[in-house]
Amino acid sequence: MKAAGVTVVGVLPTHRRRGYLRAMMRSQLDAAQARGEPVAVLWATEDTIYGQFGYGMASMSAEIDVPREHTGAFAQIDTPGQARLVPLEEAEPLIAPIYERVARATPGMFARTSAWWQDRLLVDRPWQRGSGGALRCAVWEVDGSATAYAFYRVNQMFEHGNSTGNIFVVEAMGDSPQVTHAIWRFLFGIDWLARVKAVFLPVDHPLLLSLKAPRRLNFLVREGLWVRLIDVGAALSARGYATDDSIVIDVADEFWPWNAGRWRVGRGGVEKTAAEADLACDVSSLGCVYLGGFTFAQLARSMRVRELRAGALARADAMFRSDRAPWCPEVF
Ligand SMILES: CC(C)(COP(=O)(O)OP(=O)(O)OC[C@H]1O[C@@H](n2cnc3c(N)ncnc32)[C@H](O)[C@@H]1OP(=O)(O)O)[C@@H](O)C(=O)NCCC(=O)NCCS
Repeated sequence: MKAAGVTVVGVLPTHRRRGYLRAMMRSQLDAAQARGEPVAVLWATEDTIYGQFGYGMASMSAEIDVPREHTGAFAQIDTPGQARLVPLEEAEPLIAPIYERVARATPGMFARTSAWWQDRLLVDRPWQRGSGGALRCAVWEVDGSATAYAFYRVNQMFEHGNSTGNIFVVEAMGDSPQVTHAIWRFLFGIDWLARVKAVFLPVDHPLLLSLKAPRRLNFLVREGLWVRLIDVGAALSARGYATDDSIVIDVADEFWPWNAGRWRVGRGGVEKTAAEADLACDVSSLGCVYLGGFTFAQLARSMRVRELRAGALARADAMFRSDRAPWCPEVF
């Protein structure tokens, strides 16, 4: 599905608070709709801004900062294969297919073109290094096939002769639980460093349950993607549902009123209806549930969804359920 990616929103300091952002948001929704993009997604620097334009907090994003001596595994697992360091210029054909396989199974990941890989991931510009080391790429190979990868930087520092440095994991993933485990064991095993750090991890990251000392991960969570349904009908038609049920949702959309009204939602299709509604909510709440990151029941407890027919929250949650937390591994 096509989606509009919104980023780096700004108004000159001489022109703020005169309605320019509001006007830009509206014309951006117009343009996205004309291009046939039923949703818009963004990462917000300021979490206060986008709710009023119909965006809902759709995923959470985690970071870790774990002392290496506390990275012991919960269980010893046999992980066939081995890691190989790959020059950045040779990496794309090995790692892009892994990303694609993970993306197909994970809500919130977007397709990367070759130009995206080359311009965004497989470059090591000096300003991106900060005080860190060169960007490295390791692939985990099983029987000669790449199945997992990690980009990382070694930020080496010493105090009194001991390393206080860290390995900063830019991105790591694998196309099965075994090889995901293997690539993280590889990263934890790079010695001479005190800590392992990573950002933009999914909230259901397997490390939480695969380390002996999960508290030592210092797992910190904040909001990730925000989603705005531009065309409720097209957006809800484009996603899958876990049950055969259907539900009628009365949607309010003050900023983009033509979405407003009662929508019957289900595997059989999504359409405007005159039927009685089961649930009522603002369009921003549909953004929250769209990728499966939040439930209607959670939103109801936060007074953002109203249950109009008994049992409707549970039915809607069964339909919208996702096995995996949504994950977008990079800020675009
Ligand atoms: C944030 C920014 C883009 C707003 O632009 P603007 O043209 O001043 O905004 P508008 O006048 O169109 O205001 C639209 C609405 O957003 C609100 N708003 C504006 N800036 C806000 C902020 N920083 N936080 C929360 N709400 C904000 C306004 O109160 C207004 O709501 P109202 O109509 O109910 O009063 C501008 O202040 C800016 O460039 N800031 C620095 C860069 C930045 O923070 N970008 C956002 C990155 S996520």
